[in-house]
Amino acid sequence: MTWRVMVQADVDTVLSIEQAVQSFPWTRGNFSDALNSGYICRVDETECGEIRGYAILMPAVDEAELLSIGVTTAQQRKGLGRAMLSKMLNVARDRNIQRVFLEVRSSNVAAIALYRSVGFIEVGLRHGYYQNANGCEDAITMACELTQHFSLPRAGERPGERENG
Ligand SMILES: CC(C)(COP(=O)(O)OP(=O)(O)OC[C@H]1O[C@@H](n2cnc3c(N)ncnc32)[C@H](O)[C@@H]1OP(=O)(O)O)[C@@H](O)C(=O)NCCC(=O)NCCS
Repeated sequence: MTWRVMVQADVDTVLSIEQAVQSFPWTRGNFSDALNSGYICRVDETECGEIRGYAILMPAVDEAELLSIGVTTAQQRKGLGRAMLSKMLNVARDRNIQRVFLEVRSSNVAAIALYRSVGFIEVGLRHGYYQNANGCEDAITMACELTQHFSLPRAGERPGERENG
């Protein structure tokens, strides 16, 4: 598996994954804009060149916001999302980012559990922030502190299972 920088040529594939896994997917323009804006955009690729997942992080001085993360339906629940997110947080830490925020639909139990599993905690709630089939739903704001001594879990591990270093 390769965790590499996403390029414009990946947008079609990433868009097709996004459309398959998100009820309100990003557009092609959203992904292109993220690349053009210099956001931290990464894809997970197999040795055969198949993209299985992606993540987009928007840096802002010493903080960043995780804007999107997705894993193909066939590869979900195998530890890939946690591995990708851990790598993204390590990229952020290498850039001296202290804190990563995100917003997640309150109904997205899979994503909320994933975020908690790598150390995010809930820090806020935005009422009616997202559109959904019934009108709107709340956004939960979560944050993860990337202190120097915080050791991110590898795939299959929980925070605290590793010694620092
Ligand atoms: C959220 C998402 C990225 C998780 O990716 P994944 O590869 O399936 O996640 P993992 O296999 O690494 O799971 C990590 C942890 O997340 C939680 N989790 C993942 N899927 C879950 C599900 N369907 N239900 C409950 N918890 C879930 C579990 O705690 C899991 O740990 P465990 O398997 O040891 O119990 C994936 O479900 C996805 O692409 N969803 C659609 C896009 C999306 O909602 N993105 C987030 C908002 S932008």
